[in-house]
Amino acid sequence: MALERTLSIIKPDAVAKDVIGQIYSRFENAGLKIIAARMAHLSREQAEQFYSVHKERPFFKALVDFMVSGPIMIQVLEGDNAIAKNRDLMGATDPQKADKGTIRADFADNIDANAVHGSDGPDTARAEIGFFFPGINLHSR
Ligand code: PPS
Repeated sequence: MALERTLSIIKPDAVAKDVIGQIYSRFENAGLKIIAARMAHLSREQAEQFYSVHKERPFFKALVDFMVSGPIMIQVLEGDNAIAKNRDLMGATDPQKADKGTIRADFADNIDANAVHGSDGPDTARAEIGFFFPGINLHSR
C-alpha cells in the first residue's frame, strides 16, 4: 500500500459544533496520523483561490460564503492510502446520501454545510497541502 498525505479541512459548521475531537478520533482510529494542523479564518480571497477550480459552478458563491463564515481546522493526514481512506471516512458530498457512520452522515446538516473537505487525488493533495502549509517541511512519524 502507498503511504500518502492528504489535506483535510474541518469546515465552519463542524468547528461550531465542537466535534473537532470526535473527527480527529475517526482519523486516528483509521490509521491516519495528523502530521500538521492549524486553525484559520479564511479571507474571501483565500477561499476563492482555494476553490478556484469550482469558480464556474453555480454553488461557488454559496461555498465561499460558507467557508469564510467562521474558523476552520486544517490538517495534513498521513497513512496508507490516506486520500481514499479520508474520502471514505468523510462520506458522500451530500450528507443525505452519505453512508451511515461517515463523518458527513453523522455531523453535516446539508450539502452547503457538509462538515469536512478532503483532497480528491495525489496532485490535488500536493497542491492543497502547499496552499495551507507553504514552505513547511512536514515530518512523518
Ligand atoms: S468533489 O469533491 O469535487 O468531487 O465534489 P463536488 O460535488 O464536485 O463539489 C465540489 C465542492 O463544492 C461543494 N459543493 C457545494 N457547496 C455548496 N452548495 C452545493 N450545492 C454544493 N455542491 C458541492 C462540495 O462540498 C465540494 O467542496 P469540498 O470542500 O471539496 O468538499
